[in-house]
Amino acid sequence: MIKILTVGGGGREHAAVEALHRSGAEIYAAMSTNNPGISRRAVKVLKVSEMDVASIVEFAQESGVEYAFIGPEAPLGEGIVDSLTEVGVKCASPSKDAARIETSKSFMRELLDSHNIDGNLGHATFHDLKDALAYIEDAPYELVVKPVGLTGGKGVKVQGEHLLNLEDTAAYVREIFEQDIGGAGVIFEERAIGEEFTLMVFCDGSTIAPMPLVQDHKRAFEGDVGPNTGGMGSYSAEDHLLPFVEKGERDAALRILKDIVDAMASEGCPYVGVMYGQFMLTRDGPRIIEINARFGDPEAMNVLPILKTGFADICKAMADGSLTEEVDFKNVATVCKYVVPEGYGVKSVSGKPIYVDERGVIDSSAVSYYANVFMHEGVLVTGSSRSVGVVGMGGSISAAEANCEKALSFVRGEAIRVRHDIGKPEIVQKRVEHMRQVRG
Ligand code: AMP
Ligand code: GLY
Repeated sequence: MIKILTVGGGGREHAAVEALHRSGAEIYAAMSTNNPGISRRAVKVLKVSEMDVASIVEFAQESGVEYAFIGPEAPLGEGIVDSLTEVGVKCASPSKDAARIETSKSFMRELLDSHNIDGNLGHATFHDLKDALAYIEDAPYELVVKPVGLTGGKGVKVQGEHLLNLEDTAAYVREIFEQDIGGAGVIFEERAIGEEFTLMVFCDGSTIAPMPLVQDHKRAFEGDVGPNTGGMGSYSAEDHLLPFVEKGERDAALRILKDIVDAMASEGCPYVGVMYGQFMLTRDGPRIIEINARFGDPEAMNVLPILKTGFADICKAMADGSLTEEVDFKNVATVCKYVVPEGYGVKSVSGKPIYVDERGVIDSSAVSYYANVFMHEGVLVTGSSRSVGVVGMGGSISAAEANCEKALSFVRGEAIRVRHDIGKPEIVQKRVEHMRQVRG
């Protein structure tokens, strides 16, 4: 049995902890909120800021853990893996240097350029407001504007969608500099047109093992409208592809991730852990939107419940450098819908009671994961972020969607909301149609 430290207290981390528990690991959990799903699986819990590296390292040493798995990106950027490694804890997550693939969008784009890796987009980074404003005056293509540093996925604005003219673009660029959003300047990217998908892989520094493709829905409201959120829900198909992604296209995306891993090894910062590739499938093939140094949330909730290989063994193999390509998943489709507080994406109504009848969920061929909820005076209440992820499983996306809806009837609460359209045939078909148009 391996003793493992987990860091993080969201839905993604609850899914990871369940998978570790199922594969026989002894869990020591460090998290800032007391996630009830994680707590009940853990031998010991440290309630601490996930950025408090010193306290977490001390907890790891006291607990005698041999391994660690870090859920969120912020502590990775803080160098938690480097500090744990120093005291002899083996990590199934990337070092601070390797995490730059997520924490610095310019590092990622420049790595792709310098190693001639497929899938890159045009890009230009500026640390000076005047130069940035001059660039947008006659940019070579439609732009996407992003702060260079971490912004929790909420700092991206797209010309033609959020930025309707040059004035809008200039105003947003000014805001990034004046409010120091992300803290490292601005990156402009070429706008890619197509449909997005997520491909995540396990990685031990050189070998990678792919997970099923997933599609995430970032927009707050039904029909994919409204502000971008951390993700309202996601689905995966029984064949581990997606209805609008062909095998050759998936293989091209996998090749890109393998090339990134090889490039990082050759530059002396080998990548260990889960790597998350968000791709736009364009008429010219997959293009990289972003690379993350961790599981996606909610995407982790699609793949982990159908993992056949023990997750504890995978973490051990990633950390030890002994991963093989044979990681198995059930041939089952999944649909995940996040129950969120009303107002989520703009201004959440929080602190309201929420209750999950877990027996009912399981009897619906589904699982549920707690996210930003906590006990208050003996009652489970919502926080301001996403509350509970419900994942339906089935032989097809439609069957999984129906099971997810059945399971959702066992989640009750005040001032909560769900995007019911995720995984329904109409919205899936819309993507298939759009991709047909894009392919021309
Ligand atoms: P990100 O936080 O980088 O995942 O971006 C949020 C959303 O902005 C993505 O899910 C895309 O829909 C969109 N986006 C980001 N970069 C690009 C790009 N280069 N081209 C088109 N859309 C993009
Ligand atoms: N679901 C998108 C992310 O985790 O970044």
